[in-house]
Amino acid sequence: MKILISAGPTREYIDPIRFISNRSTGRMGYLVADYARKAGHEVILVSGPVSIPAPGGVRLVRVETAEEMKKAILLNFPSSDVLVMSAAVGDWKPASPEREKVKRKAEWLLKLVPNPDILKEVAGLKKNGQRVIGFALETEELIRNASKKLLEKNLDLIIADTPAFFGEGGRSRVAFLYRDGRKEEFECMERENVACRIIEIIGGD
Ligand code: CTP
Repeated sequence: MKILISAGPTREYIDPIRFISNRSTGRMGYLVADYARKAGHEVILVSGPVSIPAPGGVRLVRVETAEEMKKAILLNFPSSDVLVMSAAVGDWKPASPEREKVKRKAEWLLKLVPNPDILKEVAGLKKNGQRVIGFALETEELIRNASKKLLEKNLDLIIADTPAFFGEGGRSRVAFLYRDGRKEEFECMERENVACRIIEIIGGD
């Protein structure tokens, strides 16, 4: 199968030097890409800026902003069997990024406007046989919030996790919520096992 995977953070520029981003390391998506490749799938990895190397044998597409990520995903989705959207897409971007470096000043109110919801848009384009898998990063109400995202974004599967996966923290409470209502919950799951389970599920249908 052809598996399209997004990973890492996005950057939203304030001026040519500064940007807004998040703590994503890209590790989850890169692991999914690695397992997918080892399972014999063709892999396209659309990645925001990260400091880890891409696994061998995957096609790496580097992006920075949410808009660039959206373009790369929309371009590659029609020919893919599965999308695994593990990127931490910035939900907002500066309303009017400055062309020149902003000079130091005492106080500054920065206006942000929403970025597109890439996953929701792409899931709306799904054809028969294509599957769309998302993640839900939650600090509270893990299952309830993730179930809501599963429905609202029209996904086949959502993996709910917590910021415990940030940085070196390799374990988190995790839940796999399926479109048909099935649910698998793990109190403490390793990132490797999450990636491995995703590839099992993809291969299992
Ligand atoms: N996502 C996306 N585009 C966005 C935001 C999120 O494609 N602009 C995707 C993520 O890659 C993830 C899923 O949507 O697979 C859920 O992301 P998450 O950050 O958990 O939730 P949000 O939809 O951003 O909602 P909220 O921040 O309110 O929890």
